[in-house]
Amino acid sequence: MQNIAELLGCQYPIIQGAMGVICNPEMVAAVSEAGGYGVLGSAFQEDAEELRRQIQQVQTLTGKPFGANLTVLNPRCAEMAQVMVEMGIKAITTSAGDPGPLVQMLKPQGVKVLHVCPTVDKAKKAQAAGVDAVIAEGAESGGIQGHDAVSTMVLVPAVADAVTLPVVAAGGIGDSRGFRAALALGAKGVQVGTRFIASAECIAHENYKAMICQATETDTILIDRTDRIMVRVLPTALAQRLREDPSGGRSAAIPRQNIGKAWIQGDLDAYTLAAGQVAGIVHEVKTVREIIEEMVSPYEA
Ligand SMILES: Cc1cc2nc3c(=O)[nH]c(=O)nc-3n(C[C@H](O)[C@H](O)[C@H](O)COP(=O)(O)O)c2cc1C
Repeated sequence: MQNIAELLGCQYPIIQGAMGVICNPEMVAAVSEAGGYGVLGSAFQEDAEELRRQIQQVQTLTGKPFGANLTVLNPRCAEMAQVMVEMGIKAITTSAGDPGPLVQMLKPQGVKVLHVCPTVDKAKKAQAAGVDAVIAEGAESGGIQGHDAVSTMVLVPAVADAVTLPVVAAGGIGDSRGFRAALALGAKGVQVGTRFIASAECIAHENYKAMICQATETDTILIDRTDRIMVRVLPTALAQRLREDPSGGRSAAIPRQNIGKAWIQGDLDAYTLAAGQVAGIVHEVKTVREIIEEMVSPYEA
């Protein structure tokens, strides 16, 4: 079965997870330059023109392949997908919803689709919808996830047994041990989020990076967003208040536009800070190249 690096045309089977407003073009390009597969987000751009500008910016920084991410539930998803195609993006990761309509739109144009799945059932449905690979994302991952809470250790081999497509493991991978473990579980590659936030090239504020570097494995908390969506975040005062508030309504109480204020400007009370349990083994900010080279070193040997 195809290795993810072959599928995506990069050197190593390491995909940088989309991370909302903090997958800045410099970081995306740095991941691709270091042999991984950088991925731009599209959920928080002001409009399609902003996405177009960001893609152009990555293209000026690297000639290596990179991709983009679509949140299926984003009302502007089809418009964003069209810009990605026009700008020459060759592979798109999709999440949060049915990838079927996007597959029908993107595959005839030669664009590969890799869909994020939190359960075997969703992985089988994604395969039936015609995706090129599934990203099995365990519940230790940072950011939004379902309520089923299956760990990466169980999800990856279960999905690998259930589908014929290549499987990418996501959730909890932060160094060469996690990378090799994922391959041993049957994955053909990994998707890494939290570890790349604590990279020199990531635009995330130093307060955010510092919280990741100081967190222990028990520090992240799950907040229930009520509509069968949970989000794993760092234990800021805001997150702790939200956890104790059983009424939910998180989105209404905290405007989505506040995300940059918190993630990029460092105001930790403006929005919650997504991060995975792997923060417990991330202790210092490193360059993207250092992170990737450490991750693949025994693999290369
Ligand atoms: C801050 C943050 C923002 C994220 N935003 C997105 C997103 O916009 N779209 C998406 O598909 N996944 C998103 N994710 C999930 C990541 O792409 C990736 O799958 C996940 O971080 C992997 O788990 P890890 O954090 O343990 O490495 C986000 C994760 C984090 C930590």
